[in-house]
Amino acid sequence: MTLSDVQIIQLSKVIDPRGNLSVIEELKDIPFKIERTYWIYDVPGGENRGGHAFKANEEFIVALSGAFDVTVDDGKQKKTFTLNRSYYGLYVPAGLWREMENFSTNSLALEFGSKHYNPADYIRDYDEFLKMKRNGEI
Ligand code: TYD
Repeated sequence: MTLSDVQIIQLSKVIDPRGNLSVIEELKDIPFKIERTYWIYDVPGGENRGGHAFKANEEFIVALSGAFDVTVDDGKQKKTFTLNRSYYGLYVPAGLWREMENFSTNSLALEFGSKHYNPADYIRDYDEFLKMKRNGEI
């Protein structure tokens, strides 16, 4: 996968004077079946998260509240996406290095994964990531 496979996906937004509503349905609004949902919150100022790649897990990341940046790297190029609305998110296919930073106070990052948690699916060493990318293993 390369940076061209990463995309911002706009979610449906039901505008209502009582409060707006957005929805995510698997295989409809996002291109995978959801096996896992987790969220990152209470991030202290200046902290970064997610310096790693997944071999198989695909992700969809939404800033449910506040704002943060996600930098995605395919081994050749990097691109930073700012997420700051709850009605769109970032689709990150497997095989890409990603980092999350610049979390605003009280930000809430919601992440959907296509796979159950599996430590063996992580690549945490950047040089190892580059090597696997060069060899076409991811
Ligand atoms: P990690 O994915 O490394 O966090 P981040 O990429 O956001 O910095 O996860 C941190 C720890 O949380 C990890 O060591 C194990 C635990 N964890 C789970 O138990 N299940 C999960 O689904 C996730 C994402 C993490």
